[in-house]
Amino acid sequence: QWTTSSIVGEQVERIRAQVGDGSAICGLSGGVDSAVAAALVQRAIGDRLTCVFVDHGLLRAGERAQVERDFVAATGVKLVTVDARERFMSALAGVTDPEQKRKIIGREFIRVFEQAAQDVQDAAGEHGETFGFLVQGTLYPDVVESGGGAGAANIKSHHNVGGLPEDLEFELVEPLRALFKDEVRRVGLELGLPETIVHRQPFPGPGLGIRIIGEVTAERLEILRAADSIAREELTAAGLDRDIWQCPVVLLADVRSVGVQGDGRTYGHPVVLRPVSSEDAMTADWTRLPYDALERISTRITNEVAEVNRVVLDVTSKPPGTIEWE
Ligand code: XMP
Repeated sequence: QWTTSSIVGEQVERIRAQVGDGSAICGLSGGVDSAVAAALVQRAIGDRLTCVFVDHGLLRAGERAQVERDFVAATGVKLVTVDARERFMSALAGVTDPEQKRKIIGREFIRVFEQAAQDVQDAAGEHGETFGFLVQGTLYPDVVESGGGAGAANIKSHHNVGGLPEDLEFELVEPLRALFKDEVRRVGLELGLPETIVHRQPFPGPGLGIRIIGEVTAERLEILRAADSIAREELTAAGLDRDIWQCPVVLLADVRSVGVQGDGRTYGHPVVLRPVSSEDAMTADWTRLPYDALERISTRITNEVAEVNRVVLDVTSKPPGTIEWE
């Protein structure tokens, strides 16, 4: 029988068999997938796993703290944080094309990560450890959408699959490769991860970088982060977290519309709410959120985020729309 504890047991055995007495590195993205993958590997090989968290500046509010504090408290993993915010900002300057953004973010991520891995390895070298393995939180739908599955087309370049350089010096450990998101969440709970991590919304590797339509700048990130944090707060307060798969908030940074506030005319940016319901992200339906929740989100965002004067709702299913706008 395919129970959660049998998945855990089987994966732990597999990881031990694959890694032997080697050591592994895992990049934490702040998301569920990498957290669960890391926790599984931690369960299998203990402190021969080192986690690296790259702060690329494209994270949601509070995300870094959640990894550094909550994830570490729950698992006891060895964690190294790299602050690479400025590096990503300059690499993204002037770039508006979605695939280009993804490629740049993926490339910079790998470079920063490789350097961090090298540093970890150099430090560990003194203790005679070598790091041969790289843990990835790749799920089954990622494999399929990146063309790794049975003949599927490459729909978007997911930076956690197929974006690694050819001359990779690591062997991949991908304990979630056969699982769907709901199974990953159950495995996470089984491993003792807190609900706040296990039931958090899926978040793409390229982060808020692909939720700003237009050039990514530090100022636009601040705007989006504020709007996103209000939307998440209100959805949680209304008890709607389990009704949605995720609700991206998208900043239409190059679009402006006229508004009015007090006696004054405003000329601000719209944000899009993209609440979707889904089983596995391969298809999705737009979620019929209660009007009062939508109203609170809209009122708060337009009151509290000065640059945003309009909130719009995306009512497109997938297909034809993807969940993310880029
Ligand atoms: P789309 O937009 O393709 O998204 O319908 C499907 C699911 O995948 C997430 N997503 C990503 N996850 N790296 C990731 O790890 C990525 O580059 C990426 N792009 C999209 C998206 O949030 C949704 O859950």
